[in-house]
Amino acid sequence: MYSEKVMDHFQNPRNVGEIEHASGMGTVGNAKCGDIMRIYLDIDENQIIRDVKFKTFGCGAAVATSSMATELVKGKSIQEAMQVTNKAVMEALDGLPPVKVHCSLLAEEAIHAALWDYAQKHQMTIEGLEQPKSDIGEEEEEEEY
Ligand code: FES
Repeated sequence: MYSEKVMDHFQNPRNVGEIEHASGMGTVGNAKCGDIMRIYLDIDENQIIRDVKFKTFGCGAAVATSSMATELVKGKSIQEAMQVTNKAVMEALDGLPPVKVHCSLLAEEAIHAALWDYAQKHQMTIEGLEQPKSDIGEEEEEEEY
């Protein structure tokens, strides 16, 4: 059911932990399952992501996607990190079962929330970045409200 890459990142997740005095930190919850993800970013003066760590109360797919997502944004510029969508992460992992796709949103949204936090602290705008929601869900669910 899971690709070898998913199993590898689940069993040996990269970049787990936290960063003290992080440049940006973002926490999001997944409205579908109640799981939580927190991402810490260390961004240098040239706006390059020097280091990134994550912590999650999430399922195996959330762990694997976050691990891959952190690998994909590490060493990248903020604009490059904005291109790391949940789709890009899933592709890098050779896919996820359809019922687990919502789990991959946690990492993307938490990275965006951490970038938002960084932008707020530096009074800057990041192109394409919107204010994060604390709870993420699928679009159609949000329309019910
Ligand atoms: Fe909640 Fe996967 S079931 S993140």
